[in-house]
Amino acid sequence: MISMGTEGNLRRRVLVFPLPYQGHLNPMFQLAGLLHARGFAITVFHAHFNAPDPSGHPAFDFIPVPDGMPAGNPESVEVTVEHIFTVNRACEAPFRERLAALLDAPGRRAEVACLVADAHLLTLVNVAQQLGVPTLALRTGSAACFRNFMAYPMLCDKGYLPAQESRLDEPVGELPPYRVRDLMAIGNGGVVHDMARRLMARAVEAVRASAGFILNTFDALEADDLATTRRDLALPVFDIGPLHKISPAASSSLLTQDPGCLEWLDAQAPASVLYISFGSLANMSGAELAETAWGIADSGQPFLWVLRRDLVRGAAEAALPAGFDEATRGRGKIVGWAPQEDVLALAAVGGFWTHCGWNSTLESACGGVPMLCRPCFGDQMGNARYVEHVWRAGITLDGELVRGKVEAAIRRLMRSKEGDEMRERARELKSRADEAIAEDGSSRRSIDKLVDHILSL
Ligand code: UDX
Repeated sequence: MISMGTEGNLRRRVLVFPLPYQGHLNPMFQLAGLLHARGFAITVFHAHFNAPDPSGHPAFDFIPVPDGMPAGNPESVEVTVEHIFTVNRACEAPFRERLAALLDAPGRRAEVACLVADAHLLTLVNVAQQLGVPTLALRTGSAACFRNFMAYPMLCDKGYLPAQESRLDEPVGELPPYRVRDLMAIGNGGVVHDMARRLMARAVEAVRASAGFILNTFDALEADDLATTRRDLALPVFDIGPLHKISPAASSSLLTQDPGCLEWLDAQAPASVLYISFGSLANMSGAELAETAWGIADSGQPFLWVLRRDLVRGAAEAALPAGFDEATRGRGKIVGWAPQEDVLALAAVGGFWTHCGWNSTLESACGGVPMLCRPCFGDQMGNARYVEHVWRAGITLDGELVRGKVEAAIRRLMRSKEGDEMRERARELKSRADEAIAEDGSSRRSIDKLVDHILSL
């Protein structure tokens, strides 16, 4: 059955294939929701691993692609990188079969406009193109991070990478404002470094092979990086973020969000609460969890803490030290998983202790909330560099995680003049984001162009 648009025209269909991790699923579903609102039918191809729940998206068609991969998030960044290669390999043949079957259904080939694939899914981009389906690549990180991807071979040639301990604070002249320690680098050498090099090269290849490049960012946030990306890529680049503000209804949370914390937050004083979350993948040792907990307790600051079950490496549960509950009674709330976008939009939240995943960074900036950055891996160090150095809307907590440093950093962000100034600058970022998504804002214009581009494919 071919679907028809409101004016009797053939309704075009966009296929999407997200990378199956929370930080990649969210922006892809938000993008799908946005395209659906602009009249496209949507088919979601997805891995069995971390499969999204179709009941949250009744307007979309879902086609599961069996991958034979065991459940459970990878335990370390090295394993995550390997995992991405495995997703590509495991999904290739079943995706080919299912996409071919979809295209063979009567009328479907004309209906399908393109596949939007995560930039880490080069193998699936190739499959789609071999079957005659144009592709667009969605990169869920920042524009600056993608510049880092493109520059990776140069950074290796010039000896910045693999990073040497003695050069970590050296500025990377070719890629300001990064220092060596901010670069997207995984491992200090050997096999992991080679995997990282391949991971980034493949993402750049997927983008270059596609008919367009979509980024979840906005012009006022990353004007220079976007301009350079446009210059370096000979293809249309669409900066259409922040997607969570444009397409907020499309929730694709893999864990159940605890809405009770919103009510609790509503009862707190403006800008008084520190929200703490390390995203869906980052983890820590049991000793670091204890230091974090005591630093929070000693700061005296009200807090909302997302204590993900698998936060502590090698432990089935993230257990807090004995005495923590009594020490913080009445001024803290702990949840397993929060409705983060809603949390960051509430007046009570005055700061966000984050691992600086790109979604968290963007959601915080667009909520007008300054950040205490504790980046762990991948793009997070580079994101933290922008928060602290470029937007000046946060501080970084680096080095060993010890309670005294945690306490001091929390006080600095939440209860100092300097912290208030950061909060002011974060509010300014929020205003810029609101302008970008307003009628005739930069992201709205980019979305119009994206829609026209898809219709032209
Ligand atoms: C991963 C990488 O770690 C990150 O560096 C990269 O930029 C994207 O992929 P993740 O670690 O999960 O992502 O972090 P992030 O990008 O911040 O995404 C987490 C998402 O989960 C956010 O959209 C956030 O709103 C959501 N979330 C987080 C919740 O819904 N509830 C929570 O309690 C915490």
